[in-house]
Amino acid sequence: MNDSTLSRRKLIGTAALAGAAALLPRDLAAQAPAPAPAGAPGGYTIVTSSNGLEAAKAARQALIQGRDPLDAAIAGVNVAELDPDDVTVGYGGIPNEEGVVELDAAVMDGRTMRAGAVAALTGVKTPSKVARLVMEHTDRVFLVGAGARRFATAHGFPDESLLTEKTRKIWLHWKNRLSDLDDWIEAARDAEDPDVKRFLERYGEGLFRPQGTIHLSVRSEKGDLVGVTTTSGLFFKIPGRVGDSPVVGAGLYSENGVGSAGSTGRGEANLLTCGSHTVVEFLRDGLSPEEACLRALKRIAEKTHLVPRHRDAKGRPKFNVNFYCVNAAGRAAGAAIWSGSKYVVGDAEGVRRLDSAYLYKKDA
Ligand code: GLY
Repeated sequence: MNDSTLSRRKLIGTAALAGAAALLPRDLAAQAPAPAPAGAPGGYTIVTSSNGLEAAKAARQALIQGRDPLDAAIAGVNVAELDPDDVTVGYGGIPNEEGVVELDAAVMDGRTMRAGAVAALTGVKTPSKVARLVMEHTDRVFLVGAGARRFATAHGFPDESLLTEKTRKIWLHWKNRLSDLDDWIEAARDAEDPDVKRFLERYGEGLFRPQGTIHLSVRSEKGDLVGVTTTSGLFFKIPGRVGDSPVVGAGLYSENGVGSAGSTGRGEANLLTCGSHTVVEFLRDGLSPEEACLRALKRIAEKTHLVPRHRDAKGRPKFNVNFYCVNAAGRAAGAAIWSGSKYVVGDAEGVRRLDSAYLYKKDA
């Protein structure tokens, strides 16, 4: 992709979904393809987002070694948080509009129904670990911004730079192209940088505004249910913006005896529906994991109909949200608003990436 094919506005993601998409009939659960059931009932099950293949392997290894399921879940997402090439989470995440990486994370333990969360945390590569400390070392649930930073410092986390050379170049490119009305201009060679080009090829034509995240839920062999969600949030966000990921009930929810769920995708849509809690409530009602995820997505799609700027010409959401969940029996599923998403499952059989169920099918 070069400058002539990529407008300024495409870079910041206002491009509508490329090509028209075909609407499935309203009985969504009945129409979407049914991936093979994932997770071995009675054994341990891990379910995570499509960027969680290595995370699932690490979590699985930890479970095999007999570690606590929350240790395993956090060890899993730490792999993504520490990976400078995953630009959606932790170290190397895409920064806010001022070039500062602000991270959000939450953990929930279904055994105790306790949770811990941090948002807009700077300088810590592994915010999931800080979220756990909030849960275990305070009588509170959620710390944000400067307070979260001071809490992390008190617990020995150094203040590190999270901006990599790659994400610095990507951010500066975004800033240079953003407007004709400010002092920043784009040099012709900027878009030729290999890191910038790769980023634009992957995300420049994405659904609405890109944001990435990793969620990972574990159902242990004993049947305990825990979850963790961690993200650098919306690319080039307004400083202080927080999405769904660290919000208990939206970005994750875990309850022993019922299930554990989490999300990735457009956080605002999920915040407004408390989606992960909704998924777990649907599990409580006896829906299968796949049906529970699809029903929660359907609710988001229906509420989106109220906001014209988020709908395409057919009234469908111009963004994507994914849910992942595992029920008390260890069955797992992933589902998304739009076709093409994947999720990852780990169990005694190994670790594998599967196609998510969906509400709407994108045209080829
Ligand atoms: N779902 C991640 C975010 O919106 O920040």
